Amino acid sequence: MLQRLRPLRTPLRSSLLRPAAKTTFHTLPAQRNNNNNNTNNKPSSDPAPSSAGAYARTDDSIKVTYPSASDLPASTPVSGAGQTGTNTLPTLATFSLQGRVSLVTGGARGLGLVMGQGLVISGSDLAIVDLNLDEARRQAEGIVETFRRDYPHATKVPRVTAHYADVSDEKSVEACIREVIEEHGRIDHLVTSAGFTENFEAVKYPIERMRKLWAVNVDGTYLFATGVARHLMERKAQGSMVFIGSMSGSIVNVPQPQAPYNSAKAAVRHLAASLAVEWAEAGIRVNCISPGYMLTALTQKILDDNPELKAKWTSLIPQGKMGVPEDLMGPVTFLLSDASKYVTGADLRVDGGYTVT
Ligand SMILES: NC(=O)c1ccc[n+]([C@@H]2O[C@H](COP(=O)([O-])OP(=O)(O)OC[C@H]3O[C@@H](n4cnc5c(N)ncnc54)[C@H](O)[C@@H]3O)[C@@H](O)[C@H]2O)c1
Repeated sequence: MLQRLRPLRTPLRSSLLRPAAKTTFHTLPAQRNNNNNNTNNKPSSDPAPSSAGAYARTDDSIKVTYPSASDLPASTPVSGAGQTGTNTLPTLATFSLQGRVSLVTGGARGLGLVMGQGLVISGSDLAIVDLNLDEARRQAEGIVETFRRDYPHATKVPRVTAHYADVSDEKSVEACIREVIEEHGRIDHLVTSAGFTENFEAVKYPIERMRKLWAVNVDGTYLFATGVARHLMERKAQGSMVFIGSMSGSIVNVPQPQAPYNSAKAAVRHLAASLAVEWAEAGIRVNCISPGYMLTALTQKILDDNPELKAKWTSLIPQGKMGVPEDLMGPVTFLLSDASKYVTGADLRVDGGYTVT
């Protein structure tokens, strides 16, 4: 729930595009004296424009707590021209996931749901893993129904199953991996999308919430990755994984304060790189996708309540718009498939160019 938002300041770009000659400088009287008397060639006090730093700062008044699942609308599988449906155009065979088994954590909603659907459209069987088992079951049926409708002539309809796990709990993760292997025979690919963000100024963020946030985002990624890696190593099979980080693991978002989330996502990104090196010899590739601002049920709810926040965010994105979950279907399929077999330890930013400016 977004509790309080200050009105936003002038969008960043308009201020940056203002001609330099019109920029006004405010100096304190003491500084002015200092500057005028600067006869001995000492460095002068730095006169700062009144807007100095203003558009690159966090705003401590913004507080967003992660809503409960019942407060968010359910996501829907993607359907429609250009996204799904029989492809009559030639495509590289190495992009296919035909005959593979993929496991997606946090797959009942948002980015995880649509990435899972992208893997199914690319030929993979799918295990949806989520805290919300009822929703995972409903969405598993929805993905299969959509597939049957979009591919009426398909010779094989992918198998999609639903499983409960709390990714932050070791026993729950172990039991879930066992259950998926029992039902599908094996696991070839992992996508870790279970995760959440909250916005609080750091000095007021309760340590228990920070521990929970790290437990889901970081421990959850670690527990599923190591569990699936052990299974692949036992089988002496090759496999690939994609961890869902965030651009927040490389940059600091403004204006909403979220230091615990940013640092958790930096950990996820570096965990992918570290495990990629450790498991390269075993034939297991590990990569990270760092999405920018994506329109999901969660971000939509925040923006519905605070449309001014969208103006601020989009003013900082070179492509001028937020992403949609479908924008991750291609990147995740590429990184799991043999099309990327010489790519490991990479961080693929899917952010409309946000992090390069
Ligand atoms: N939406 C964005 O703009 C955005 C941007 C960058 C990164 N991300 C990251 O992408 C991932 C997915 O985000 P989303 O927007 O789809 O979120 P979402 O809240 O819509 O979906 C997250 C799913 O994870 C599940 N989940 C939460 N805690 C869990 C737990 N302990 N165990 C098992 N499942 C759990 C939820 O039930 C839900 O189905 C997150 O890691 C998020 O940090 C999102």
